[in-house]
Amino acid sequence: MPSRRGVIAGGAGAAVLAALGYRAWDRGVFSAGEGRAYAAWNEWQGHAGEGPARRPLHAAILAASAHNSQPWMFEPHEDSITVYADLSRNLGAADPCRRELYASIGCALANLQLAALTFDLDAIIHQNAGRLEPTHATNVVEVAKISLIARMDPGLRSTLQPLVDAIPNRHTNRGYYQHGNPVDAATLGKLGSRAAFITDKAAMKDFGALIVEGTRRFIADRQMSEDSGRWLRTGRREVEEHRDGIATDNAGLSSVTNALAKLMPDQTVTGADRYWLASTREVQVPTAAAFGVLFTTDRFAIAEAIAAGTNWQMLHLAATSFDLAAQPLNQPIEMMDRDLVLGRKNDYGKEIRRMAGVKTGDPAFIFRLGYPEDAALPSPRRPFDAVIRSTGVA
Ligand SMILES: Cc1cc2nc3c(=O)[nH]c(=O)nc-3n(C[C@H](O)[C@H](O)[C@H](O)COP(=O)(O)O)c2cc1C
Repeated sequence: MPSRRGVIAGGAGAAVLAALGYRAWDRGVFSAGEGRAYAAWNEWQGHAGEGPARRPLHAAILAASAHNSQPWMFEPHEDSITVYADLSRNLGAADPCRRELYASIGCALANLQLAALTFDLDAIIHQNAGRLEPTHATNVVEVAKISLIARMDPGLRSTLQPLVDAIPNRHTNRGYYQHGNPVDAATLGKLGSRAAFITDKAAMKDFGALIVEGTRRFIADRQMSEDSGRWLRTGRREVEEHRDGIATDNAGLSSVTNALAKLMPDQTVTGADRYWLASTREVQVPTAAAFGVLFTTDRFAIAEAIAAGTNWQMLHLAATSFDLAAQPLNQPIEMMDRDLVLGRKNDYGKEIRRMAGVKTGDPAFIFRLGYPEDAALPSPRRPFDAVIRSTGVA
């Protein structure tokens, strides 16, 4: 017969295990990338009964967005779509001119256009003009109107099909990339001619140091850190409640470290910042096989910010189709805007042009590429209807 002490110890052990099991369940240790917050990834082709303007929007909402803020809104009509930017879903001081917010809209437009092709429609975008400037506005503003017309060029569909197929498989990968496995020039060449790639060892070292410095300066800026921290999501409940932001599952941790991280008490913003700097310096920069930069000719045109996003989304989809991992590393761009708003000198533009070997243009988007050690998990998406303004037509 077990002793009384043994029964008590056994009971306590079972209680601890049950509590641990509950916490593991509550924190989503067993459900990484699963559940309603991720349902959109399986519904990206919409439904046959939907109107032609509504159907491609299921793919649009799977696009990349700054901090997974999903700052878009769509109004489908019979054969057109009005696209809005929801300025309330901003990154505050981390994106003072809302450059990244508009780039995120550009990402969604790329997915939208590609998805429309699969329904034999050309999505012709008529963009509104406008300038990026420091703002605290939180309203919803019209950005573009899209006309959907029957497609004239059947060849285009087969050319772009690999990008369409990549839509549900594209995920930002913040983990280790295979060290010593370069991306050859021919593959880089197929990713889109709009990016300048940095593959030279010495230039990559300088460029990596600039990214780390940008990260250090970012987290040292209390306002940027706080505003950025508002988009961090820890645990299953937070993810399911918000269905946006950056979750622990998307931090680029191995599956074991990810499970342990979720069991730990919630990270403070300062703790998350420290982790971010360490992983930038020790994982993301040193294991990159190549860096890339998208340049713009008119840094403060909203249309150019949107175009940078569209180019990024297309490039990331192309990279996905070649089994490459990719991650934006936009800290230097964010510091350029922050310095501008605070009236501080910033030479990043000149330095980045030198490192990338280009003579003109301003950097608008920075990223890294490589072959992944581990696949990245999907990020949550808000419910479809939350981003649709209904006119009752489509
Ligand atoms: C304009 C823009 C800027 C971004 N900047 C960064 C960045 O600096 N670091 C990073 O890890 N991810 C960055 N991302 C990636 C987003 O965080 C990511 O797209 C979002 O969390 C959704 O995840 P998904 O791309 O896996 O769908 C950026 C994305 C966009 C569109």
